[in-house]
Amino acid sequence: MKKTIKDYEYKGKTVLLRCDFNVPIDNGLITDDTRIKESLTTINYLLQQNAKLIILSHLGKVKNEEDKEKNTLYPVYLRLKELVNTNVYFSKETRGENLEKLVKDLKEKEILLIENTRYEDLDGKKESSCEEELSKYWASLGNIYINDAYGTSHRKHASNVGISKLLPNAVGFLIEKEITKLDEIMNENTEPFVVIMGGKKISDKTLVIENLITKCNKILIGGGMCFTFLKAKGYNVGDSIVDDENLEFCKNILDNYEDKIILPIDIITSNKEIKDIDNLNNNDAGFDIGPKTIELFKENLKSAKRVVVNGPMGVFEEKDFSKGTNEIYNCLKENNIKTLIGGGDSAASVNLLGYNNAFFHISTGGGATLDYLSGKNLPGIDAIEDK
Ligand code: 3PG
Repeated sequence: MKKTIKDYEYKGKTVLLRCDFNVPIDNGLITDDTRIKESLTTINYLLQQNAKLIILSHLGKVKNEEDKEKNTLYPVYLRLKELVNTNVYFSKETRGENLEKLVKDLKEKEILLIENTRYEDLDGKKESSCEEELSKYWASLGNIYINDAYGTSHRKHASNVGISKLLPNAVGFLIEKEITKLDEIMNENTEPFVVIMGGKKISDKTLVIENLITKCNKILIGGGMCFTFLKAKGYNVGDSIVDDENLEFCKNILDNYEDKIILPIDIITSNKEIKDIDNLNNNDAGFDIGPKTIELFKENLKSAKRVVVNGPMGVFEEKDFSKGTNEIYNCLKENNIKTLIGGGDSAASVNLLGYNNAFFHISTGGGATLDYLSGKNLPGIDAIEDK
């Protein structure tokens, strides 16, 4: 068991808090602030405990000067100011005299947000390579390190793993919640355990499939990724998205676990036509699962005791192709099935379709949750001291 935020006293201490504020931003406006809001429990707790709070986060990838402007944390600073009831300051620099002055002037119950940690990647990938000198510099700004950046747990960077090694440390409430929920749903002994997989790319998810197929009773596959499986079965999938590099992988999974895999039997094409899967012509591209598939999937879900969802059933962002995803979520909700939603696209679809409060857990992690579901270790969490 890892040390948690409650294992330390904070009065008068400067706390370095790593959050994952990697939120979608369009033209300077945050389009989904879930990750900021999910960090508030930890932030408010540390403020109530009279900490001086320094927050670190990355945003996007920073490979050149233009990326800096695109990926500034300034919009996050403005949103954070609206969400907390205290003074919030922003350091435009990730190191140097101005930052150090802001740290020195910071009072108890105040927050200083430091600019995107990946600005340090411009000069030799210092953040992403977990450079020791940068880790030491950031660690020198505080007394205790709290890691609450669950979404970044699969990365070994200076601002998570690097600092952890240099200061007394613990996980925050968000990481604690994510791991508790993931462990609970994966390890409980109830069946049927059904996995729903979707989303565009199969390449990101081969390890998840390999790991979960041995643990679950059924995998229902929709979204863009179902067409590689359907092609592997010999169907003409027309112009649908196919990942030829993973055809062999799909064939192997189908050979070994055919009874566990449920694939669509009909689809909605990009022209909004309903077509059976053995009746596609070369121009047809599947954008959603069809009505017969929805019924087939629902049939397989009715008796489920627990469900993990990883990826939407179709192009849910467009109303004409959101029905599959919507009906499956509705079935899970109506039947009160213990459901964990994991992976960036799934969380976005749940929010867009209005199921924010309908499920057992909606993970804030994208790659981190994929790695967890693949059975991999998460270095950002491993680096935290055990109790
Ligand atoms: C995420 O959104 O998955 C995390 O914030 C990690 O971002 P990254 O893939 O750019 O490291």
